[in-house]
Amino acid sequence: MRPRRFPTLRGLDSGLMMEGKSVSESRVTLTQLMGPSDANTLGNVHGGILMKLCDEAGGMAAIKHARRPAVTVTVDSMSFHSPVHIGNLVTVQAEVTWVGHTSLETRVVVTAENMLTGEVTHTNTAYFVYVALGDDGRPAIIPPLICETEAEQTRCERAAQRQAARLERRRQENA
Ligand SMILES: CC(C)(COP(=O)(O)OP(=O)(O)OC[C@H]1O[C@@H](n2cnc3c(N)ncnc32)[C@H](O)[C@@H]1OP(=O)(O)O)[C@@H](O)C(=O)NCCC(=O)NCCS
Repeated sequence: MRPRRFPTLRGLDSGLMMEGKSVSESRVTLTQLMGPSDANTLGNVHGGILMKLCDEAGGMAAIKHARRPAVTVTVDSMSFHSPVHIGNLVTVQAEVTWVGHTSLETRVVVTAENMLTGEVTHTNTAYFVYVALGDDGRPAIIPPLICETEAEQTRCERAAQRQAARLERRRQENA
């Protein structure tokens, strides 16, 4: 399937149509300097600190896409490829990769920069799923996603496969 370069529309119960949104419209970048309170006694940053930053960045991208509050419904497993140290500048980039009816997936990429040398290392990439909530606190319909590049389209197709696998896992867990 080719990237959709024009806004797609989603029909609402009210009869109104909801316009699609591009990936770039909700992209988020967070940067944070890691300090002693973020790390253990060896100076390595706790995984939980990075997971929180990932969830915050992914949540912001989700809210920007939906323009509604969004809650985390699931996160895929997270592996850290290299340590982050006190004094590193951590950058967390999040973007929406796939949109369902009320849920969406965000891809979160974490890098750490040694500010003295300029060396940047890829720490981890994670996928979080959020559900947008309506005024009644129930899942609410969100705009469809417009993929403007081949890369975004490819990520969207892979995300749809991951989401199908998550729902199958949930089905088996609840069986
Ligand atoms: C998220 C929540 C509102 C969903 O409510 P629900 O009654 O289960 O809603 P549904 O079963 O209709 O699912 C809503 C959407 O979430 C998706 N979803 C639900 N569970 C999922 C899972 N385990 N993995 C992936 N997607 C899931 C559904 O596929 C559906 O997506 P769609 O509308 O795009 O098709 C509810 O489970 C909740 O409040 N959970 C707690 C969230 C929370 O507190 N998070 C931590 C703090 S933010």
